[in-house]
Amino acid sequence: MSITVGIAGITGKFARELASALLKYPDINIKGYCRDPSKVPESLSSKVSLSKGDAFDTSAIRSFVAGCDVVVCCYLGDDKLMVDGQKALIDACAAEGVPRYVASDWSLDYTKLKLGELFPKDPMIHVKAYLDAQDKVKGVHVLVGMFMDVFFGPMFGTYDASSTTFKYWGTGNEIWEATTYRNAAEYTAAVCADKSAYGIKKFIGGRATIREIAESFEKVYGVKPKLESHGSVDGLFKKMHELRKNDPQNVFSYMFLFYQYYMINGRTYLGTEIDNGQYPQVKPVNWEDFMKSVPKDQLANAFFNVGNDI
Ligand SMILES: NC(=O)c1ccc[n+]([C@@H]2O[C@H](COP(=O)([O-])OP(=O)(O)OC[C@H]3O[C@@H](n4cnc5c(N)ncnc54)[C@H](OP(=O)(O)O)[C@@H]3O)[C@@H](O)[C@H]2O)c1
Repeated sequence: MSITVGIAGITGKFARELASALLKYPDINIKGYCRDPSKVPESLSSKVSLSKGDAFDTSAIRSFVAGCDVVVCCYLGDDKLMVDGQKALIDACAAEGVPRYVASDWSLDYTKLKLGELFPKDPMIHVKAYLDAQDKVKGVHVLVGMFMDVFFGPMFGTYDASSTTFKYWGTGNEIWEATTYRNAAEYTAAVCADKSAYGIKKFIGGRATIREIAESFEKVYGVKPKLESHGSVDGLFKKMHELRKNDPQNVFSYMFLFYQYYMINGRTYLGTEIDNGQYPQVKPVNWEDFMKSVPKDQLANAFFNVGNDI
């Protein structure tokens, strides 16, 4: 029996990876929804049924979700989009009899956080509560730690390509849980194909300390990176709050420090009880595997290249 998967925000990086992973399944049909279908690469648009509309166009959303077995939200944007835009999709799923909704998560374990702690994750907490209260639509939450592609990017502030330095807070022995965009998409495609999958699903490609990541870097690229400490985890907490207090509008000056803090302080770890084993057809990609797949001179740009080869 075939399965129809609806992807909202199909122009995005993760969405393109997901569509590509789903196309490997023989019995899956894909419907895509976005503001501008001309942005969808031809390699996908020829194989996907596309419809156009904005995040709050109720009737366009209803016709997009109609006939889907599962709808996956791949939006990334402001809080209104992430909360009200997702609620619009969930309401449409309830009205059209779509039994499962995959929330736009792919994240550390935000279910352990209180509202306001890691502020970019607040919308996910609201959407999970909204899904938990549904009786017709089952919520699916795919947790993966962070994307390795983001970790090495210049905005994250951990890997400095120009000086081949890893800059870290803490002792350097804190665990970083992560997978890649592509690997997370492969696991999400497996979840879409599995009609019995709902609730929280945890998938990890690799767990490693920054010291171990640096060792893998040397092994893969033959260059020993420098390791530079910024200070303690408590110092990171102080620094991120100071930056926010002094210039709250300048969100990008402190947002990634908040992510770093909640990634390494142990609060949001997925832990070792994970769901990788349910889908043995997907091979987890660990930190070293990821570095092996990306030339050194492209590592810092890996995030910007996600989905471009699809
Ligand atoms: N754990 C991690 O490290 C990590 C890192 C990055 C992302 N993520 C997660 O991955 C998911 C997807 O992220 P991504 O990197 O693929 O995002 P992305 O490439 O920026 O794509 C975002 C999508 O949202 C759509 N969108 C943005 N604003 C919109 C609006 N106002 N109305 C309608 N659509 C709108 C975009 O459409 P247009 O093309 O029309 O703009 C695009 O389709 C999110 O859940 C995000 O939280 C996790």
